[in-house]
Amino acid sequence: MTGSGKTVDGAPAERVRTSPLARGAVAANGNPDISDAEFARFQKLIYKIAGISLADTKKVLLVGRLGRRLKHHGLTSFAEYYRFVASGAEPDELQAMVDLLTTNETYFFREEAHFEFLAKTILAQHPPGRAFNVWSAASSTGEEIYTISFVLAEALGLGAPWQVTGSDISTAVLAKAEQGLYWLDRTRGLPQSYLRKYCLKGVRSQEGGFMIAPEIKRHTRFMQVNLNRPLPALGKFDVIFLRNVMIYFDAETKRQVVARLVEQLHPGGHFIVGHAESLNGLTDTLRPLRPTIYQLPA
Ligand SMILES: C[S@@+](CC[C@H](N)C(=O)[O-])C[C@H]1O[C@@H](n2cnc3c(N)ncnc32)[C@H](O)[C@@H]1O
Repeated sequence: MTGSGKTVDGAPAERVRTSPLARGAVAANGNPDISDAEFARFQKLIYKIAGISLADTKKVLLVGRLGRRLKHHGLTSFAEYYRFVASGAEPDELQAMVDLLTTNETYFFREEAHFEFLAKTILAQHPPGRAFNVWSAASSTGEEIYTISFVLAEALGLGAPWQVTGSDISTAVLAKAEQGLYWLDRTRGLPQSYLRKYCLKGVRSQEGGFMIAPEIKRHTRFMQVNLNRPLPALGKFDVIFLRNVMIYFDAETKRQVVARLVEQLHPGGHFIVGHAESLNGLTDTLRPLRPTIYQLPA
């Protein structure tokens, strides 16, 4: 990514070779095999870029997902693809690799208790008329952004000064989030009344889908943010949702990410992590209110 003759993991850049000698054996699924050493190079690369610790058990997943990219570029081995992607000369391919190696599972009202807490405790104490800003810091395809938005619209009204910022390292999921078009069979957990009030039914090419209404969308913004790097200027937030992403990080990465994000909270602001996650031992700055919900002292 640097153009400095160094690969993104710091090794010297090499040109892509397609000589038959570089070609790997082809497995039954049509993708080339990957050696343990080659897999380890990809593990190191995604860790360096995104902080993601890709378990040894994810070899088949990596072959399946990146196999498509090899085909796309007419490459016949993972060694060739690695040199190509890590050369520093192909930032778009590096982004495509990151997009494919991230896990983007999400849905509306996932871990519903957090939204109940947002409505009944946080928003119930919020002075009317004052701005309210929320950050969905690993927002994936946007269901979390819009779930938060529906809750804010209900509690504060569509005319109030609130904003939800959605960010992710993956540009592919961010584009979907910004589009705000979902299939009707993905509405599990989404109350019908919200669907009627805040969404539009898809017609013609969007038949079978629904679109987030412009009145909601104008309260949202989308940014690519890599949590494993210093943050861009984002402003301060009343609530930060950092849910179901720390499970992919090791302890040191978690500590650094949490330290960066805590800086973005207003005093008294809330920090919410996924139900399988905890900030235990990662920060002294936040006060636990209940499992997975924390507050910065005012
Ligand atoms: C499983 S989804 C969680 C979505 C949502 N927060 C939820 O709980 O339903 C995890 C998201 O984290 C993103 N992610 C992974 N590493 C990241 C990083 N270093 N910076 C920003 N986002 C990252 C992935 O792209 C993915 O969209």
